[in-house]
Amino acid sequence: MTVTIVGSQLGDEGKGALVDLWGGDADVVARYQGGDNAGHTVVEDGDEYKLSLVPSGAVRDKVGVLGNGCVVNPNTLFDEIDELRERGLDPDVRVARRAHVIMPYHRVLDGIEEEAKSDSDLDAGTTGRGIGPTYEDKAGRRGIRVGDLLDAEVLRERLEYVVPQKRALAEDVFGVEAGEAFDVDAVFEEYKAIGERLQEESMTVNAGEFLGSHVDNGENVLFEGAQGTSIDIDHGIYPYVTSSNPTAGGAATGTGVGPTVVGRGEVVGIVKAYLSRVGTGPLPTELTGDDEDLADYIREKGGEFGTVTGRPRRIGWLDVPMLRHAARANGFTGLAVNHIDVLAGLDEVKVGHSYDLDGEELLTMPATTERWGECEPNLREFEPWPEVDWSAVAAEGYDAIPENAQAYLDYLSEEVGAPIYAVGVGPDRAQTIELENPFQQ
Ligand code: IMP
Repeated sequence: MTVTIVGSQLGDEGKGALVDLWGGDADVVARYQGGDNAGHTVVEDGDEYKLSLVPSGAVRDKVGVLGNGCVVNPNTLFDEIDELRERGLDPDVRVARRAHVIMPYHRVLDGIEEEAKSDSDLDAGTTGRGIGPTYEDKAGRRGIRVGDLLDAEVLRERLEYVVPQKRALAEDVFGVEAGEAFDVDAVFEEYKAIGERLQEESMTVNAGEFLGSHVDNGENVLFEGAQGTSIDIDHGIYPYVTSSNPTAGGAATGTGVGPTVVGRGEVVGIVKAYLSRVGTGPLPTELTGDDEDLADYIREKGGEFGTVTGRPRRIGWLDVPMLRHAARANGFTGLAVNHIDVLAGLDEVKVGHSYDLDGEELLTMPATTERWGECEPNLREFEPWPEVDWSAVAAEGYDAIPENAQAYLDYLSEEVGAPIYAVGVGPDRAQTIELENPFQQ
């Protein structure tokens, strides 16, 4: 069967911990979108692994697949694999031949365009990894695919077509001097060598065939979503979004198995007990002004600094309309709620239960980001819960969670319309309390 793990907010919900937990029951862990903009932290026995491209399951000796919906920076891929090897692991990572490659000029153009947009506040605060420009070229039918790296002639032909266009874009449109990243010969030599390593290590696959045959054999496949529903290119807060589909439908289009395969399985939404946001754009439940100290406290306690960029994250109360929207877009069969320990010991715990927009109560997000920015959250207050020994709570199980935190979780499950499968009370794998294992549903 399949289990799809999806971020239900703005990314950084702590998906890695759940992928790691349930990945133990998977034979294969596949990513279906995004690239090295994703920051996954997996902590095992106090050892911390920070991964941005390699599927988190690799830490548990699972076959990891980067599906066709991903954009792959091969240098990051090799660096992460080499580092895991140096730490004594033996990751088995396969890459879809249909996946698109992040080229050096994509990264440079990402920075150039963000800079140009910043004057009009339209910059998305990207991770600078070249994600958007690579997906642009994919849609524009001028991208380089992983399979193209394996054939020097095809690679050369593609580069000769696209690189001069990119050079002209940088120089003539943006007025920036184009460097080595825009040099056909240099790029060709580097990426030909990358293709040779991919070939030597037998890393490339026809992802749909590869994953489909595992499913047909009755094996368990876990689809690991990166980022989150509200930064989905279609369902998110456009234009402050990433350029792919983190929502569950992406698990089908981004790997090559059918939507019925994904739909027959479980789709688990990962929720952080409050909001954090690494990029720009509106955020109705953001803690600002008089609540700045509270935001600082939560940021420090929750370690809310970007895994990829190190940027401090903006903090807000849980946005429940956002979660209702996510439940609709993804069809959650279950939820995992993280970081309830971070809210422990506060004087007050609030959630944005609904919005007020032009005097009307809204229970879900409006479709345009500008209207979302005009929403005033209707806050609902919960009885706070005390600081406790969370490792002891994790060892004892769900009933040991402070009562007021349980009331918060019950409310959330009721509003989102899905049962709670797991609760995270700390960063270590042992600090995730499991109520249901989706692979055993
Ligand atoms: P990009 O994906 O680098 O193009 O960035 C586009 C938007 O998505 C920016 O607002 C980023 O901050 C955000 N973003 C991208 N990846 C992540 C992630 O893994 N977690 C949270 N936000 C992300």
